[in-house]
Amino acid sequence: MNPYKPAFTNAQLQDFAMEYGTPIYAYNLNSLEDRIAELRRALPSGAQIYHSLKSNPLPALIEASVNAGCRPEICSIGELNVALDTDANPALFLYSGPGKSEAEIQYAIANGVRQFSIESWVDLARLCSIAQRYPDFRIRCLLRVNPKVHINPGLAMSGSITQFGFEEEHLIAGKEKLIELPNNVSVTGFHIYYGTQIPTEDALVASFTEGIACAERLCELLSFKASVLDLGGGFPWAYAKEEEPINFDAIGARLESILAARNRTRDAELWFESGRYITASCGVLVTKVLDIKPAKDDHSFIVMDSGINHLGGMSGLGRVVRPYMAVKCSDNQLDTFVDKTKRIIVGPLCSPLDRLATNSVIDNVDIGDLLHIPNVGAYGLTASLIGFLSHPAPSEIVVRDNHVKAVYRLNTGHIKTNISGA
Ligand SMILES: Cc1ncc(COP(=O)(O)O)c(C=O)c1O
Repeated sequence: MNPYKPAFTNAQLQDFAMEYGTPIYAYNLNSLEDRIAELRRALPSGAQIYHSLKSNPLPALIEASVNAGCRPEICSIGELNVALDTDANPALFLYSGPGKSEAEIQYAIANGVRQFSIESWVDLARLCSIAQRYPDFRIRCLLRVNPKVHINPGLAMSGSITQFGFEEEHLIAGKEKLIELPNNVSVTGFHIYYGTQIPTEDALVASFTEGIACAERLCELLSFKASVLDLGGGFPWAYAKEEEPINFDAIGARLESILAARNRTRDAELWFESGRYITASCGVLVTKVLDIKPAKDDHSFIVMDSGINHLGGMSGLGRVVRPYMAVKCSDNQLDTFVDKTKRIIVGPLCSPLDRLATNSVIDNVDIGDLLHIPNVGAYGLTASLIGFLSHPAPSEIVVRDNHVKAVYRLNTGHIKTNISGA
């Protein structure tokens, strides 16, 4: 694992803000490629890496990850369209998610997708009924499972009460349904995703170990031999603050004996998924100070031109513990978050929830200064409240080797449609 290195220098961020205005997201493709190389080095050889577009669907990032050998893991028509615009083979995409509509399954198959992660018997039946319209296309399914064994990952998405995947006992109870599949649909293996932001190498190894054990037990009970085992991921990266990454270089070696002891999944290809680890480090949000004003009880507010409409929207909704943002001034002074001062960094929205950081220590900050928030390439803009208050989306620029390669702006605002719904 490489030591932590910011995606950009302050001087670069200043230049971008000068050229493209603020607020602005800047992404460094070199950081993204470094992260993919690290994942590949850490994982067992021959493992496939799926890039989860949900962390950031910006087309240039996806193109870069595909060119670096990742396959797209997608959950919507929008994500699929981004992936289809790359050189990746859609037959190798993985279409997943707990609520796939008929329309999207149809669209996916018609556009070349052949692999689906199946979350329930209803999901399987829906896929089968659409697959039968395409008898010449071979559709492969992974059964997503919510294992009965709980481990303690970051944001748990398995091993607890969640809406994701089959419960093991329900899979066993309904196993007859697997015999009745149409000729062109087959189950090839299991998909087990324990959670996001799994904090340590030990916890990652534990989640993969449990995933393998779960697949082995299901293969036994279903009299089935898996050819694919998607062990998920949850590879962690700091969110909106600077931190040394955890070192998980030894994962591959640590899994070796467990992998060697497999029985019915022995020949299965191993797949892993990552969104956060691949994209988090490459993105920085640069925002400008619009106002500074004193407030009650020795507080003061620093009002920025960007808030929870552009970053951390899910924490603004109270759905995720509010991360404090590590905010850097243009002069490289790091916000240190001690309680003795009471500066609160807020966005421009008419909501008291619109806070980027509380109890910040930032001296010498003035109106017009730029602050930047590192490590927000994952779950940044598209995981935020972008429609709230109808401010325009920020520009997003993509940089490689110090050159700006692409500039985007997310479309927001309503488009009037035909009253008939067509
Ligand atoms: C099934 C699945 N795969 C992959 C991911 C991406 O996770 P991360 O961004 O932590 O790598 C998620 C995140 O919610 C997920 O639900």
